[in-house]
Amino acid sequence: MLITLDESHRKLVHQVRDDAGEWLASKGTDQYRGGLDMRQVHANIDRDFDNFPFVGWEVDGRVVAVMAIIDPEADFWTPEELAEPQTYISRFFVVEHGKDYGSALLGAVIRRAKDDRKRWIRLNCWSTNTRLHAYYARHGFEHVRTVDVPGRMSGALFQLRLDK
Ligand SMILES: CC(C)(COP(=O)(O)OP(=O)(O)OC[C@H]1O[C@@H](n2cnc3c(N)ncnc32)[C@H](O)[C@@H]1OP(=O)(O)O)[C@@H](O)C(=O)NCCC(=O)NCCS
Repeated sequence: MLITLDESHRKLVHQVRDDAGEWLASKGTDQYRGGLDMRQVHANIDRDFDNFPFVGWEVDGRVVAVMAIIDPEADFWTPEELAEPQTYISRFFVVEHGKDYGSALLGAVIRRAKDDRKRWIRLNCWSTNTRLHAYYARHGFEHVRTVDVPGRMSGALFQLRLDK
């Protein structure tokens, strides 16, 4: 079931981000590479948590996947793209891998965006992580381009057209 997260879930979002760092290190990608100040990482999550809705996928009363619905980022997208009706997703994490919890949440967010007559689901993700790119391609997303913004490693832009 798709739910909107509340204050009681803030720590869970920190936790799944921490867990993702360890999981990704074991996958041999430099996504969320080591040496980051985790207090800063949590502060960045808190900034989003305070300003944007987070949604979750709940199974048997337990939140098993989370995602933020943020504003599209002007660093990466053109003014024309920014102006289009879209749902822009970020901070996408699962509590447990291999159960398709993330796919279930993504599917529910796509359905809601269609109901809301959005034209696109869009996101930016880690530029060099081709397995992550393949994940989004499997879910119907097209790679738009990869943007090189100094200091930002997540310039691979993906979108899914909803109104066709
Ligand atoms: C992305 C995510 C939410 C998808 O959840 P899900 O639909 O339940 O899928 P799973 O976690 O079971 O992963 C499915 C496949 O995608 C791969 N995958 C997903 N995210 C990946 C990543 N960041 N790097 C490398 N591979 C990734 C998994 O390794 C797995 O591949 P396999 O089937 O060959 O083992 C989840 O994988 C996750 O929390 N990833 C880490 C954080 C992340 O990268 N979030 C996206 C930021 S844009």
